Amino acid sequence: MADLMEAVTSLAKRRGIAFQSSEIYGGLRSSWDYGPLGVELRRNVRNAWWRSMVQLRDDVVGLEAAIIMSPRVWEASGHVAGFSDPLVECLSCNQRHRQDHLEGDPPACPNCGGTEFTESKPFNLMFQTNMGPVQTDESVAYLRPETAQGMFVDFPLVQSVSRKKLPFGVAQIGKSFRNEITPGNFFFRTREFEQMEMEYFVKPGTDEDWFSYWCDQRMQWYVDLGIRKEKLRLRPHEPDELAHYAKAASDVEYEFPFGWGELEGIANRTDFDLRAHQEASGEDLTYFDQEHDERYLPYVVEPAGGVDRTLLAVLVDAYRQQEVPTAKGDTEKRTLLALHNDLAPIKVAVLPLSRNETLAPEARAVFDLVKPHWMCDYDDAGSIGRRYRRQDEVGTPFCITVDFDSMQDRQITVRDRDSMQQERLPIDGVVAYLAERL
Ligand code: GAP
Repeated sequence: MADLMEAVTSLAKRRGIAFQSSEIYGGLRSSWDYGPLGVELRRNVRNAWWRSMVQLRDDVVGLEAAIIMSPRVWEASGHVAGFSDPLVECLSCNQRHRQDHLEGDPPACPNCGGTEFTESKPFNLMFQTNMGPVQTDESVAYLRPETAQGMFVDFPLVQSVSRKKLPFGVAQIGKSFRNEITPGNFFFRTREFEQMEMEYFVKPGTDEDWFSYWCDQRMQWYVDLGIRKEKLRLRPHEPDELAHYAKAASDVEYEFPFGWGELEGIANRTDFDLRAHQEASGEDLTYFDQEHDERYLPYVVEPAGGVDRTLLAVLVDAYRQQEVPTAKGDTEKRTLLALHNDLAPIKVAVLPLSRNETLAPEARAVFDLVKPHWMCDYDDAGSIGRRYRRQDEVGTPFCITVDFDSMQDRQITVRDRDSMQQERLPIDGVVAYLAERL
């Protein structure tokens, strides 16, 4: 395929999965709005993560912390002093770049090819704002650059209300903000994004085993979502890449058309954060281990992924162009999103064969039958072939066709997206049939 990234971007924009934010004002660079199908896809990604990380486990509980936390949190965590990327300016065109993202030997400006830059300066990625009506140094606040700190500062509260014993985790899904120097690659790197993070609190000394456990678990999650195994890899960080809080880290990466990109980082954060907050707040954040009759600060293993990057990998991985046979005996092209059923934004489309006024109520009745169970679409516009193609390109696993015979024999036709096989079924059995497959 000529340019997979371009094809996916164009499909996503055309079908309203994601489009440029504030488009009527010329658009805001690297800021995306998710449309009707994007909303469903994102919800399905979040649900798949929550199901695997919280619902199916008895050792992880949830949290939704505030986006704006006390600025003291970010001082203690080290973000105010150290959460920065190296910024350089091209001496020829004055464009600014992240030094560690420049390519070539010598490194060249991606805008003009220039090879001379200003000296690199650390650029803090946190978005700063002011709380309340007076703008002073005392009213400075930050939009959180990671959800993780909510889990650290609420650790004793969550532990006592949930009565969990180590090892246990606290999970959160929510927006984070970073003033990225070079956002781009559609919604791979943006300034506002959604994270899915879990802090797993463990007894010191067991952290390395738990780190490798979570690396395996998290890699498998992407495979279970239907992403091709050969497009995924787990890459351990070099010592000079490690974040200021980590003793070890590995990234789950996907091979995008623009190269390998991080979907998720798994880090051994040791007791860095709890210790820093304990010192800065003066509060006791230790855990009392009843079994060993001792108090200590737990170590933390953190799997931290992103809704947006998972969605981008899922779309790129599921995109196919195929030559398929038509009813006339020739072939035609179809675009297909071979999405995992759990992720498909629409699970079932109900398609009356025509807009005939006696057929429409029958088709509506079938739509009413299935829509309480799954996200469904009702589409009666255009030829049936075109409507199948429209559903294929957004990954709808099943289409139900209601035709004139349906009114007599009380049967409908169900078409499978991948095989394109059609099966005639009694209307009464359609919910059970779909429930078995979805
Ligand atoms: N709490 C650890 C942490 O935030 P991170 O590796 O900086 O670690 C975790 O971020 C995940 O959040 C990334 O793997 C990615 O999926 C997502 N993410 C981070 N920055 C992002 C950005 N600018 N745009 C989109 N997603 C981003």
